[in-house]
Amino acid sequence: MLHVIKKKIRNLLPSKTFRSWRNLYVKAASRLHGKNLRRLAQLHGTDKIFGHNYIDVYEKHFYEFRKQSITFLEIGVGGYDDPNAGGESLRMWKSYFVNGKIHAIDIFDKTPHEQDRINIFKGSQADPEFLDNVHKKTGDFDIIVDDGSHLNVHIIESFNILFPKIKEGGIYAVEDIQTSYWPSYGGKQEVGVDGTAMSFFRKLADGINHMEYLIPNYKPTYHDCNILSLHFYHNMVIVHKGQNTAKSNLVSGGILQSH
Ligand SMILES: C[S@@+](CC[C@H](N)C(=O)[O-])C[C@H]1O[C@@H](n2cnc3c(N)ncnc32)[C@H](O)[C@@H]1O
Repeated sequence: MLHVIKKKIRNLLPSKTFRSWRNLYVKAASRLHGKNLRRLAQLHGTDKIFGHNYIDVYEKHFYEFRKQSITFLEIGVGGYDDPNAGGESLRMWKSYFVNGKIHAIDIFDKTPHEQDRINIFKGSQADPEFLDNVHKKTGDFDIIVDDGSHLNVHIIESFNILFPKIKEGGIYAVEDIQTSYWPSYGGKQEVGVDGTAMSFFRKLADGINHMEYLIPNYKPTYHDCNILSLHFYHNMVIVHKGQNTAKSNLVSGGILQSH
Protein backbone atom coordinates (compact mmCIF):
# COMPACT_ATOMS: atom_id res chain seq x y z
CA MET A 1 0.00 0.00 0.00
CA LEU A 2 2.74 2.42 1.10
CA HIS A 3 4.81 1.74 -2.04
CA VAL A 4 1.77 2.46 -4.25
CA ILE A 5 1.28 5.85 -2.51
CA LYS A 6 5.03 6.56 -2.91
CA LYS A 7 4.85 5.81 -6.65
CA LYS A 8 1.91 8.22 -7.02
CA ILE A 9 3.77 11.00 -5.17
CA ARG A 10 6.89 10.37 -7.30
CA ASN A 11 4.86 10.84 -10.49
CA LEU A 12 3.31 14.08 -9.20
CA LEU A 13 6.46 15.87 -7.95
CA PRO A 14 9.53 17.11 -9.89
CA SER A 15 12.18 14.38 -9.46
CA LYS A 16 14.64 16.69 -7.58
CA THR A 17 11.96 17.65 -5.03
CA PHE A 18 10.91 14.02 -4.68
CA ARG A 19 14.51 12.94 -4.04
CA SER A 20 15.18 15.57 -1.35
CA TRP A 21 11.90 14.66 0.42
CA ARG A 22 12.89 11.02 0.19
CA ASN A 23 16.30 11.76 1.80
CA LEU A 24 14.56 13.38 4.75
CA TYR A 25 12.27 10.38 4.99
CA VAL A 26 15.27 7.98 5.04
CA LYS A 27 16.82 9.92 7.93
CA ALA A 28 13.56 9.91 9.92
CA ALA A 29 12.92 6.24 9.17
CA SER A 30 16.36 5.18 10.33
CA ARG A 31 15.96 7.12 13.61
CA LEU A 32 12.56 5.57 14.30
CA HIS A 33 12.96 2.03 13.00
CA GLY A 34 16.71 1.50 12.43
CA LYS A 35 16.89 -1.71 14.45
CA ASN A 36 13.91 -3.36 12.83
CA LEU A 37 14.75 -4.52 9.30
CA ARG A 38 11.21 -5.81 8.69
CA ARG A 39 9.75 -2.38 9.47
CA LEU A 40 12.38 -0.66 7.32
CA ALA A 41 11.61 -3.02 4.42
CA GLN A 42 7.92 -2.07 4.64
CA LEU A 43 8.68 1.66 4.89
CA HIS A 44 11.03 1.64 1.90
CA GLY A 45 8.77 -0.62 -0.14
CA THR A 46 11.36 -3.22 -1.17
CA ASP A 47 10.14 -6.46 -2.72
CA LYS A 48 12.50 -8.28 -0.35
CA ILE A 49 9.46 -8.34 1.93
CA PHE A 50 6.52 -7.86 -0.46
CA GLY A 51 7.38 -10.46 -3.09
CA HIS A 52 9.65 -12.62 -0.94
CA ASN A 53 10.42 -13.23 2.69
CA TYR A 54 14.15 -12.71 2.89
CA ILE A 55 14.04 -10.14 5.66
CA ASP A 56 14.01 -12.52 8.65
CA VAL A 57 17.02 -14.36 7.20
CA TYR A 58 18.88 -11.10 6.64
CA GLU A 59 18.12 -9.88 10.16
CA LYS A 60 19.51 -13.13 11.58
CA HIS A 61 22.76 -12.99 9.57
CA PHE A 62 23.36 -9.21 9.28
CA TYR A 63 22.37 -7.93 12.73
CA GLU A 64 25.92 -7.96 14.14
CA PHE A 65 27.05 -5.59 11.32
CA ARG A 66 24.30 -3.01 11.95
CA LYS A 67 26.43 -0.34 13.62
CA GLN A 68 29.79 -1.23 12.06
CA SER A 69 31.37 0.90 9.31
CA ILE A 70 30.85 -1.80 6.73
CA THR A 71 31.32 -1.83 2.96
CA PHE A 72 28.17 -3.32 1.44
CA LEU A 73 27.53 -4.21 -2.22
CA GLU A 74 24.18 -5.08 -3.80
CA ILE A 75 24.04 -6.46 -7.34
CA GLY A 76 20.84 -5.03 -8.88
CA VAL A 77 19.30 -1.66 -7.97
CA GLY A 78 15.80 -2.45 -9.29
CA GLY A 79 13.52 -0.59 -11.69
CA TYR A 80 15.42 -1.91 -14.74
CA ASP A 81 15.68 0.68 -17.59
CA ASP A 82 13.77 3.44 -15.77
CA PRO A 83 16.57 5.47 -14.09
CA ASN A 84 14.20 6.90 -11.47
CA ALA A 85 12.60 3.59 -10.49
CA GLY A 86 14.10 1.13 -7.98
CA GLY A 87 16.65 1.77 -5.23
CA GLU A 88 14.26 0.73 -2.45
CA SER A 89 16.58 -1.91 -1.02
CA LEU A 90 19.60 0.47 -1.12
CA ARG A 91 17.72 3.01 0.99
CA MET A 92 16.63 0.25 3.36
CA TRP A 93 20.23 -0.95 3.77
CA LYS A 94 21.38 2.65 4.37
CA SER A 95 18.79 3.01 7.14
CA TYR A 96 19.73 -0.33 8.68
CA PHE A 97 23.54 -0.11 8.48
CA VAL A 98 23.77 3.27 10.14
CA ASN A 99 27.52 3.59 9.54
CA GLY A 100 27.74 1.52 6.36
CA LYS A 101 28.77 2.51 2.85
CA ILE A 102 26.18 1.12 0.44
CA HIS A 103 27.46 0.36 -3.07
CA ALA A 104 25.43 -1.12 -5.90
CA ILE A 105 25.83 -2.15 -9.52
CA ASP A 106 23.24 -2.33 -12.29
CA ILE A 107 23.41 -2.67 -16.08
CA PHE A 108 21.25 0.46 -16.37
CA ASP A 109 22.04 4.03 -15.31
CA LYS A 110 20.78 4.38 -11.75
CA THR A 111 22.63 7.56 -10.71
CA PRO A 112 19.41 9.34 -9.59
CA HIS A 113 19.48 7.00 -6.56
CA GLU A 114 22.94 8.09 -5.43
CA GLN A 115 23.12 10.05 -2.18
CA ASP A 116 25.34 10.35 0.87
CA ARG A 117 26.52 6.74 1.65
CA ILE A 118 24.91 5.29 -1.51
CA ASN A 119 27.14 4.87 -4.63
CA ILE A 120 26.05 3.18 -7.83
CA PHE A 121 28.20 1.81 -10.67
CA LYS A 122 26.87 1.00 -14.13
CA GLY A 123 27.95 -2.38 -15.54
CA SER A 124 27.28 -6.09 -15.55
CA GLN A 125 27.73 -8.58 -12.74
CA ALA A 126 29.26 -10.93 -15.33
CA ASP A 127 32.00 -8.51 -16.45
CA PRO A 128 35.23 -9.30 -14.55
CA GLU A 129 37.00 -6.08 -15.61
CA PHE A 130 34.09 -3.92 -14.48
CA LEU A 131 33.88 -5.76 -11.13
CA ASP A 132 37.63 -5.33 -10.62
CA ASN A 133 37.33 -1.59 -11.24
CA VAL A 134 34.43 -1.34 -8.78
CA HIS A 135 36.50 -3.20 -6.19
CA LYS A 136 39.48 -0.86 -6.76
CA LYS A 137 37.22 2.05 -5.79
CA THR A 138 35.36 0.43 -2.88
CA GLY A 139 37.97 -1.84 -1.29
CA ASP A 140 37.04 -5.26 0.17
CA PHE A 141 33.42 -5.91 1.06
CA ASP A 142 31.85 -7.01 4.33
CA ILE A 143 28.58 -8.07 2.71
CA ILE A 144 27.50 -8.76 -0.88
CA VAL A 145 23.88 -9.43 -1.93
CA ASP A 146 23.29 -10.80 -5.45
CA ASP A 147 19.84 -9.65 -6.58
CA GLY A 148 20.78 -9.00 -10.23
CA SER A 149 19.95 -10.94 -13.40
CA HIS A 150 19.36 -14.26 -11.56
CA LEU A 151 20.82 -16.08 -14.56
CA ASN A 152 22.56 -19.23 -13.29
CA VAL A 153 25.75 -18.48 -15.20
CA HIS A 154 25.86 -14.91 -13.79
CA ILE A 155 25.23 -16.06 -10.20
CA ILE A 156 28.19 -18.46 -10.43
CA GLU A 157 30.52 -16.05 -12.28
CA SER A 158 29.85 -13.16 -9.90
CA PHE A 159 30.42 -15.40 -6.88
CA ASN A 160 33.74 -16.67 -8.27
CA ILE A 161 34.93 -13.11 -8.95
CA LEU A 162 33.57 -11.37 -5.86
CA PHE A 163 33.87 -13.93 -3.05
CA PRO A 164 37.67 -13.45 -2.85
CA LYS A 165 36.99 -9.70 -2.44
CA ILE A 166 35.00 -10.27 0.77
CA LYS A 167 36.74 -9.71 4.10
CA GLU A 168 37.24 -12.59 6.51
CA GLY A 169 34.08 -12.76 8.63
CA GLY A 170 32.01 -11.34 5.76
CA ILE A 171 28.88 -12.69 4.07
CA TYR A 172 27.77 -13.38 0.46
CA ALA A 173 24.01 -13.76 -0.12
CA VAL A 174 22.28 -14.97 -3.30
CA GLU A 175 18.58 -14.28 -3.80
CA ASP A 176 16.10 -16.02 -6.12
CA ILE A 177 18.19 -19.13 -6.57
CA GLN A 178 15.00 -20.98 -7.60
CA THR A 179 16.06 -19.98 -11.14
CA SER A 180 18.23 -23.12 -10.84
CA TYR A 181 15.05 -25.04 -11.80
CA TRP A 182 14.00 -22.65 -14.61
CA PRO A 183 15.47 -23.22 -18.11
CA SER A 184 14.65 -19.61 -19.11
CA TYR A 185 17.38 -18.52 -16.63
CA GLY A 186 19.82 -21.27 -17.64
CA GLY A 187 18.54 -23.61 -14.94
CA LYS A 188 17.48 -27.27 -15.32
CA GLN A 189 14.02 -28.69 -14.88
CA GLU A 190 15.52 -31.91 -13.46
CA VAL A 191 16.38 -31.57 -9.78
CA GLY A 192 19.85 -32.33 -8.40
CA VAL A 193 21.69 -32.20 -11.73
CA ASP A 194 24.96 -30.36 -12.48
CA GLY A 195 25.26 -26.96 -14.12
CA THR A 196 22.91 -24.91 -11.95
CA ALA A 197 23.57 -22.33 -9.26
CA MET A 198 22.10 -24.66 -6.61
CA SER A 199 24.36 -27.54 -7.64
CA PHE A 200 27.35 -25.15 -7.60
CA PHE A 201 26.65 -24.15 -3.98
CA ARG A 202 25.78 -27.73 -2.94
CA LYS A 203 29.25 -28.80 -4.12
CA LEU A 204 30.86 -25.97 -2.15
CA ALA A 205 29.19 -27.45 0.95
CA ASP A 206 31.35 -30.60 0.49
CA GLY A 207 34.46 -28.41 0.61
CA ILE A 208 33.71 -27.42 4.20
CA ASN A 209 34.88 -30.96 5.11
CA HIS A 210 37.84 -31.06 2.70
CA MET A 211 40.38 -31.66 5.50
CA GLU A 212 38.83 -35.09 6.09
CA TYR A 213 38.80 -36.20 2.42
CA LEU A 214 40.68 -39.47 1.86
CA ILE A 215 41.81 -38.37 -1.61
CA PRO A 216 45.63 -38.62 -1.77
CA ASN A 217 47.38 -35.25 -2.32
CA TYR A 218 44.04 -33.42 -2.59
CA LYS A 219 44.74 -29.74 -3.30
CA PRO A 220 42.14 -27.62 -1.48
CA THR A 221 40.52 -24.87 -3.55
CA TYR A 222 40.18 -21.23 -2.48
CA HIS A 223 36.54 -21.93 -1.67
CA ASP A 224 37.44 -25.04 0.39
CA CYS A 225 39.76 -22.96 2.57
CA ASN A 226 37.63 -19.83 2.89
CA ILE A 227 34.03 -20.95 3.31
CA LEU A 228 33.11 -21.34 6.94
CA SER A 229 29.44 -22.17 6.45
CA LEU A 230 26.66 -22.27 3.84
CA HIS A 231 23.00 -21.74 4.77
CA PHE A 232 20.24 -22.82 2.38
CA TYR A 233 16.86 -21.11 2.78
CA HIS A 234 13.77 -20.95 0.59
CA ASN A 235 15.06 -19.46 -2.70
CA MET A 236 18.27 -18.11 -1.17
CA VAL A 237 21.78 -19.09 -0.09
CA ILE A 238 23.97 -17.36 2.49
CA VAL A 239 27.73 -18.00 2.56
CA HIS A 240 29.92 -17.04 5.53
CA LYS A 241 33.59 -16.39 4.82
CA GLY A 242 36.37 -17.41 7.20
CA GLN A 243 39.50 -19.58 7.45
CA ASN A 244 38.54 -23.24 7.14
CA THR A 245 41.77 -25.22 7.36
CA ALA A 246 41.92 -26.84 10.81
CA LYS A 247 41.68 -30.63 10.65
CA SER A 248 39.45 -32.26 13.25
CA ASN A 249 41.57 -34.06 15.88
CA LEU A 250 38.83 -36.67 16.24
CA VAL A 251 39.43 -38.14 12.77
CA SER A 252 42.39 -40.06 11.42
CA GLY A 253 42.53 -41.82 8.03
CA GLY A 254 38.78 -42.32 7.85
CA ILE A 255 38.37 -43.57 11.44
CA LEU A 256 36.64 -41.57 14.18
CA GLN A 257 39.03 -41.58 17.17
CA SER A 258 36.50 -41.04 19.95
CA HIS A 259 32.84 -40.40 20.59
C1 LIG B 1 15.18 -7.65 -8.96
S1 LIG B 1 15.86 -6.14 -9.46
C2 LIG B 1 16.74 -5.62 -8.02
C3 LIG B 1 15.84 -5.18 -6.89
C4 LIG B 1 16.53 -4.53 -5.74
N1 LIG B 1 17.76 -5.20 -5.36
C5 LIG B 1 15.59 -4.49 -4.54
O1 LIG B 1 15.62 -5.43 -3.73
O2 LIG B 1 14.84 -3.52 -4.40
C6 LIG B 1 17.10 -6.66 -10.54
C7 LIG B 1 18.00 -5.57 -11.08
O3 LIG B 1 19.16 -6.19 -11.61
C8 LIG B 1 19.57 -5.51 -12.76
N2 LIG B 1 20.37 -6.41 -13.60
C9 LIG B 1 19.95 -7.28 -14.56
N3 LIG B 1 20.99 -7.90 -15.14
C10 LIG B 1 22.11 -7.42 -14.52
C11 LIG B 1 23.51 -7.68 -14.69
N4 LIG B 1 23.96 -8.55 -15.59
N5 LIG B 1 24.37 -7.01 -13.89
C12 LIG B 1 23.93 -6.11 -12.97
N6 LIG B 1 22.61 -5.83 -12.77
C13 LIG B 1 21.71 -6.47 -13.54
C14 LIG B 1 18.28 -5.05 -13.42
O4 LIG B 1 18.49 -3.94 -14.27
C15 LIG B 1 17.39 -4.74 -12.23
O5 LIG B 1 17.39 -3.36 -11.93
